[in-house]
Amino acid sequence: MLNYKIILMGSGGVGKSALTQRFISGNFVEAYDPTIEDCYQKTININDETCKLEILDTAGTEQFSSMRDVYIKSGDAFVIVYSINSTSTFNDISSIIEQINSIKDSDPAPIIIVGNKSDLDDEREVDEELGQTLAKSTHSSFIEASAKLNSNVNEIFYDLLRQLANK
Ligand code: GTP
Ligand code: MG
Repeated sequence: MLNYKIILMGSGGVGKSALTQRFISGNFVEAYDPTIEDCYQKTININDETCKLEILDTAGTEQFSSMRDVYIKSGDAFVIVYSINSTSTFNDISSIIEQINSIKDSDPAPIIIVGNKSDLDDEREVDEELGQTLAKSTHSSFIEASAKLNSNVNEIFYDLLRQLANK
């Protein structure tokens, strides 16, 4: 049986928990309750193979990057989230990706950059091309998604599984 640990990272309030809840339980959480650290499990079938996913939903307000080192080491693949209506959350993700790549130096880990809250297009501050360009330069995947509308949520996790299978 395949067994993967997927870590969600990104600034506070970008929708890491909402994406996780959507994927795990199918619901959308409207209320904002900042995360400390939550771990979930989901078993899925791909190509007749059972795959057990462990999903770690981290705190966006993580102050100490040394704390991040610990869970980056334990992760097999990473979902790096910003929200399309906040430039500062987009600016935060480069250093997270650099940190992952420096820790996973000898065994690069699949990464997908997610521009969440794509339903808020009228408040957009980050053009889709900016996400695409960053993904290209960091050898990551990229997708815009909406936990609220359940748009492209499953695709995030299936993209990582494809990357893991091709490693
Ligand atoms: P921390 O746990 O503090 O790091 O935040 P988080 O990244 O887990 O954010 P969370 O999922 O708690 O979402 C923050 C707020 O944004 C909540 O009020 C959510 O309902 C809202 N939100 C999350 N995803 C979406 C989305 O796709 N669209 C819209 N419009 N709102 C969203
Ligand atoms: Mg959260």
